[in-house]
Amino acid sequence: MALLTGCAVSPPLPSTVFADFGGPDQPYLGLATSLHHEYDYETEVTGTIPSGLRGILYRNGPGLFDRGGLRKRSLLDGDGLIQRFHFHDGGVRYRNRFVQTPKFREEAAADRYLFPTWSTLAPGGLWNNFLGPSRIRSQAGVTVFPWQGRLYAFDESSLPFELDPTTLETIGESRLGVPAEIPLVFAAHSKFDPRTGEWLHFGIEYGRHAYLHLNCFAANGTLTRHRVIEIPRYVYMHDWFVSSRHLIVSLHPLEVEIWEPLLGIRSILDALRWRGDQGNLLLIMPRDLVGEPIILTSEASFMWHSVNAFEQEGKLIADFVGYANPDHLVGSASTVIAVMSGKQGVFRSPGQLCRYRIDLGRKRVARELLANGSFEWPRIDERQRCQPHRFVYLCAADPGQFFWSAVERHDLGTGERSRYDFGAGSYCTEPVFVPRNGSAKEWQGWVLTEVYDSRTRKSLLAVLDSEHLADGPLAQVLLRHHVPFSYHGWWLQS
Ligand SMILES: [Fe+2]
Repeated sequence: MALLTGCAVSPPLPSTVFADFGGPDQPYLGLATSLHHEYDYETEVTGTIPSGLRGILYRNGPGLFDRGGLRKRSLLDGDGLIQRFHFHDGGVRYRNRFVQTPKFREEAAADRYLFPTWSTLAPGGLWNNFLGPSRIRSQAGVTVFPWQGRLYAFDESSLPFELDPTTLETIGESRLGVPAEIPLVFAAHSKFDPRTGEWLHFGIEYGRHAYLHLNCFAANGTLTRHRVIEIPRYVYMHDWFVSSRHLIVSLHPLEVEIWEPLLGIRSILDALRWRGDQGNLLLIMPRDLVGEPIILTSEASFMWHSVNAFEQEGKLIADFVGYANPDHLVGSASTVIAVMSGKQGVFRSPGQLCRYRIDLGRKRVARELLANGSFEWPRIDERQRCQPHRFVYLCAADPGQFFWSAVERHDLGTGERSRYDFGAGSYCTEPVFVPRNGSAKEWQGWVLTEVYDSRTRKSLLAVLDSEHLADGPLAQVLLRHHVPFSYHGWWLQS
């Protein structure tokens, strides 16, 4: 019907749909409020920064949801804002900058939105959105990784942008040194294997069919393995698993009805369909990318983020945060869409800490629940990446709340959970674990989480002791402003 009437169904919203920061009964709307300014200043710190905590925390996430009186339709859609917290001997210096992608530059110069994004069509109806996916440009707004002395910001399905690691000035789009004749598509989530020094990437190329791109860079920075595989689902997926010997791609049944975005009548987000009755397909490859992948089936479980994967006693173990149904994402009433209209929206299925036990010899998968709750943003000690891990750090939400007010540490060895709750109206972000200097012990370190406090309408970075999480922050790095919904961080040790 939308096509017949010439009406697009995923247009931008008016910016006036809610006032910045919302009202007292909508404290979470600060997360959906754009940050229009770039800053560079020494922060005020309360408490004591540990003397061994020296380095840089980089973070990335959407910073700008509004332009020219129009607003994006999803909280998960905005221009990439890079943050840099430099822990030095005299305190913590803060800097933030938007990634100057061509999209950002052109839209800033025009002072209006020009391009469609994954959740929102461009203004102007069908004419400006026909063949919409081909018009989508990177916002470089999901992850940020230092590598080989350089800094890169990634989006979902594109090339990364290189930034100056100190000034955060945008240098430009990068192919990571790979020759132009090799086709490259990168998703946001890559994995560093600390044992081998390799950096592994996946990406999904959406064409007539969906194609999985797999890339591996050696410790010296050269691309050593590259493979493109047609996959049996036109899937939207965000993260994957890498163990010491295998790659696992969970093709959950969240598919894009691509003809709708191609015709310009819906955004990709509004064209997602959850087909839970079709279950998950786990595509598993050896890390050398030789041979054909095997595909095993499991019950339907949507995944934003994996925890880690490893080999143990002949089994392949893969931990993740799984949802029985991505109802917080899919559908016009879902939380991540409704919040942009100032509403709380639907989120019936919580994120739970889950584990796959994969028996490759018998071609069987068993799925088990590791912890009940409402979790997201899992992190481990990155020194355990691709190896067995014992501790998982997560954000946790109270019952009835979608957004996360607490951080938790789960000891998978003992089942012990420790938690610190920042309180109602405060919202924390992915907890980044920093090993304590000189300690090889996985449990000794600090946890860094950025918290938006709706009472002050400002954000802070909390530093917690990983062994005494419940005692609360050792220090709080106070920002002079708020920071919108921020996704992912990476620690660079001095
Ligand atoms: Fe992510």
